[in-house]
Amino acid sequence: MDLLEMDIHIPRWPTIPIMKTIGVLTSGGDAPGMNPAIRAVVRTSSRQGCRVVGIYNGYDGIFDGNLEELGNRSLASIIDRGGTILQSSRCKRMYSAEGIDKARERLTELGIHGLVVIGGDGSLTGARELSLRGMPVVGIPASIDNDLACTEMAIGVDTATNTIMQLVDRIRDTASSHRRCFLIEVMGRNSGYLALTTAISSGASVSVIPEFRYNMDRIVSVLHRRYQEARDNSIVILAEGVCGAETFMERMQKAVPKGEFEQEIRITVLGHVQRGGIPTHFDRMLGARFGELAVMGLLQQETGCMTALSKGRTTLVELDQVIGKKKHPAPELIRLARNLQIEFGDAVEL
Ligand code: F6P
Repeated sequence: MDLLEMDIHIPRWPTIPIMKTIGVLTSGGDAPGMNPAIRAVVRTSSRQGCRVVGIYNGYDGIFDGNLEELGNRSLASIIDRGGTILQSSRCKRMYSAEGIDKARERLTELGIHGLVVIGGDGSLTGARELSLRGMPVVGIPASIDNDLACTEMAIGVDTATNTIMQLVDRIRDTASSHRRCFLIEVMGRNSGYLALTTAISSGASVSVIPEFRYNMDRIVSVLHRRYQEARDNSIVILAEGVCGAETFMERMQKAVPKGEFEQEIRITVLGHVQRGGIPTHFDRMLGARFGELAVMGLLQQETGCMTALSKGRTTLVELDQVIGKKKHPAPELIRLARNLQIEFGDAVEL
């Protein structure tokens, strides 16, 4: 416990003998930084005297026996690759209790003594279920949405926000040249983290996020005022979790009194380009730190937990505290966005 410097008590798994084989899989939407995490799992395990099997295609690989031993040679040149060398899936067979029972059995048949699951909320729900069935499991949060509770950051968020920021910078060039307004849709099924933080870092005027009720009258008046002031561009960043950009555009047009707002508006949906790309230094470090901690946790008989970043330090938290919990934007982020005069709606939870 001292070694991990954990603040939160995690129950120890009482019955594992010395762990010999650790399985690692990536599941759900891929995220840049998954490969550095896999690398850290393999290198740490081998240093600690364990072998690692990479399970391909998320949880599907457990059912299909699609796995391969990973050694240091399998890790050549993966640290700078986006996506995941293990590939990923959203495994339907894990949606039922019978399916999870089967996965648990298969893990024993495959000779896996401990499992590292790298993924988002759905993937970590599977991890918790397996740990409840006696499989030692440590999860690693990886989702560009940054929607997982109990950790300040998940793997992939930093790279995705940098990508979005750079793309918005480019859009602003053309927006300014034509004195246009751009409505830019970013990812974030349930979370406005990407939309809010990139609005801050790219100097957008409006951010529309699922956590707060947007005020269309205020949005239109901000854009109108900027147009009247002869600002050469206005950027609106919309989280996909609110609605699609086309729908939002229609709502905006309905809210504009006829003939009052003549600025041209264009739509850009950034899409999956946000999920790819070379992981940033931050995501490589986070992947390495989480991968190492996950293995050290398993070897110290921790289970049913997730690596997390808290006040800049890595720790383990119980998956029970994470799964199904809503992550709210940090109050200082909200204050910052307000003080920077970004219009993002009212602090009314929907
Ligand atoms: O990984 C999370 C996420 O990127 C969400 O923001 C988005 O809604 C979803 O995945 C897209 O998933 P898919 O790649 O299956 O279309």
